[in-house]
Amino acid sequence: MSRIPWWIRVPLLFFIVFGLMEYFIDSGDKPAIIEYPITQFFMLMVLLILIAIEVILKSVENVMFQTLSAEAQERYLAAKNKKPEYKWINGIYKRLTRSRSIDREQEIILDHNYDGIRELDNVLPPWWVYMFYVTIIFGLVYLVRFHIVGDYTQAIEYENEVAEAKIAIEEYKKTAKNLVDVNTVEVLTDASDLAAGEKIFTANCVVCHMADGGGGIGPNLTDEYWILGGGIKNVFRTISEGGRDGKGMVAWKNSLKPVEMAQVASYLLQFQGTTAANPKAPEGEIWVDPDAPVAPEVPAEEVPAEQAQDSLTVAMN
Ligand code: HEC
Repeated sequence: MSRIPWWIRVPLLFFIVFGLMEYFIDSGDKPAIIEYPITQFFMLMVLLILIAIEVILKSVENVMFQTLSAEAQERYLAAKNKKPEYKWINGIYKRLTRSRSIDREQEIILDHNYDGIRELDNVLPPWWVYMFYVTIIFGLVYLVRFHIVGDYTQAIEYENEVAEAKIAIEEYKKTAKNLVDVNTVEVLTDASDLAAGEKIFTANCVVCHMADGGGGIGPNLTDEYWILGGGIKNVFRTISEGGRDGKGMVAWKNSLKPVEMAQVASYLLQFQGTTAANPKAPEGEIWVDPDAPVAPEVPAEEVPAEQAQDSLTVAMN
């Protein structure tokens, strides 16, 4: 340790402590030093203590030095100023390259000579040979694992990754509900979401659509007739962008957050099939969900199988 100069030693120890702290303190996405300001104070203390230790060591060294005889002082200084020799690093370097020093090149020079260009019979450098052995071992393990035992195929690996990604997306959606838009919105079924939807509906929509969805200025929301299309995506878009010009249904995207529009849309879709106290006559057309399960004539499995094939081809390309 004493060989390393203090201006490397102090920052090195400082960053080791810092790294350990960041590693052991669980602070979510942000580094602990930002998440918990107390750690800044802690690191400051660490720095001060390191500096204090350096100062103490230095003064102890000074005191000791003063007590030495003149001759011993000289010896001490000589030992201290000796250049460090990195013997073991040089040793490793030599062993990994096995290069001949220039003054011994005569021993390995080959006896052909092309216009003064000559060739040295160097051995393959061991670092290269070792890496080559490693690739052979890797290849053997790979051969046995995937071509003889058949651990798993690329296709299975792909499917697994997609499944994992889907789970991750679900997790992410839960924390990022506000990111829904007309393309990603889905019917919310959580009681808390529906309760929130009811609140929004009561506060903003009842005047025109009635509390039971029966309709007034706005159309009846309990029947299967829709002017602007039924289903969560169309309803979400209608709420977000508003109805036809001059009809009175404004674009709510300015006053409601995306998640709120998804909540109120999910809530009002529950009116479907109920009977309102004072229902307005149907307007628009019967809306059939194009994504609904198709009639049993088409074998249900054919479609997904074909799709899977497609995505596989893409993945392999
Ligand atoms: C000022 C009255 C008014 C208010 C308030 C209002 N709407 Fe409407 N709403 C309408 C009218 C009128 C239409 C028909 C628009 C059209 O014909 O283009 C409509 C249409 C709709 C439709 C489409 C119905 C269909 O048949 O396609 C939905 C869904 C809807 N409103 C939901 C809501 C929600 C949710 C709220 C509250 C956030 C709300 N509305 C607030 C008047 C209103």
